Amino acid sequence: MTDEAQRGGHFETRAIHAGQRPDPATGATIVPVYQTSTFTQEAIGRHKGFEYSRGNNPTREALEKCLASLEGGSFGVAYASGMAAISGLTQLLSAGDHVVVADDLYGGTFRLFTHVLPRFGVHFSWVDATRADEIAEAVRPETRFLWVESPTNPMLRLVDITACAEIARGRDCLLVVDNTFATPYLQNPLALGAHVSIHSTTKYIGGHSDVIGGAVVVDDEEIDAQLRFTRNATGGVPGPWDAWLTLRGLKTLALRMREHETNASRVAGFLVTRPEVTRVHYPGLPDHPGHALAKRQMRGFGGMVTIDLAGGAEAAQRFCNATRIFSLAESLGGIESLIGYPFLMSHGAFPRDEKLRKGITENTVRLSVGIENADDLCDDLGRALERATGTA
Ligand SMILES: Cc1ncc(COP(=O)(O)O)c(C=O)c1O
Repeated sequence: MTDEAQRGGHFETRAIHAGQRPDPATGATIVPVYQTSTFTQEAIGRHKGFEYSRGNNPTREALEKCLASLEGGSFGVAYASGMAAISGLTQLLSAGDHVVVADDLYGGTFRLFTHVLPRFGVHFSWVDATRADEIAEAVRPETRFLWVESPTNPMLRLVDITACAEIARGRDCLLVVDNTFATPYLQNPLALGAHVSIHSTTKYIGGHSDVIGGAVVVDDEEIDAQLRFTRNATGGVPGPWDAWLTLRGLKTLALRMREHETNASRVAGFLVTRPEVTRVHYPGLPDHPGHALAKRQMRGFGGMVTIDLAGGAEAAQRFCNATRIFSLAESLGGIESLIGYPFLMSHGAFPRDEKLRKGITENTVRLSVGIENADDLCDDLGRALERATGTA
């Protein structure tokens, strides 16, 4: 495969070939796990581009090139986890800098932004990012980042990335989009005007719930250099084996996302008909408030479905314990279906009032719809609803 062929082609082709040449030493078709901490030099300072695996490693480099290609960016930087990627990006900030951040975001990011970074003199303003006017009003001269997720976790609200990018460009700050839920297959923030796309690769990109990882993709060479410098200085790199597992998952992202979406649409359609369910949040449903925006900025609606149940906390918690195929577990985006209770699990870090303000109630249940058979998934949910509400 030539360099040209690696860069071109459709998503599915790039997922399998971008950044992944046959191994120059042995011809191995699949990029090997370069399980080495260091690289022998021919003479002092004379080497093949790799010195020490915290700085660079060939397996990790292949993953980074592939991710950059799929996101339509020039540079990918891989990290040990999604949170390491988020914290790596915030290491570009200095004391006195300010970030405008969407108030509807992953609980771990909230924890970092409320309990860690303020101690280093970084200030945050929390806004409803579905309202561009709120974002614009919150920007100050010292604002460096606008930080959003779309779709959001767990309420699956849609944020208009193009509108946010216009504000960022007009006010000389960077738009950061956490693209974990959508994945590069369904949404490319950089093409919509964002400066940074960030991922927990633990989720759909790795795709098999067997590896933790994160990544940042950018177009700007200067930002890429700063990220690599701070990552090397602070050390949050993924090991070669984790990079390899993530790259293996990435190869089938397109296939998996198509199946996730087919199954999620079936599950959402099924749950809408159930009397035990008061609300189904899925951007693919025509009455979802972000449906039109999702059609404009995404190439599909994804594999996550969030529901509110009748019967309060007790029924919702019984439901989470009653499924047989959906496993009660943190995380999302794997081939297997997971069920979670955001109020106490993924969003446990938020104060109660904050959760309620965002619409995360004790009735809310989040489903990561896997790629098992859709009939089996609907049967499992139907039976669990009956068991949870005492109708079985
Ligand atoms: C949207 C989003 N961003 C970031 C993270 C953090 O990723 P990780 O768990 O890989 O550190 C998560 C984890 O659930 C997430 O859902």
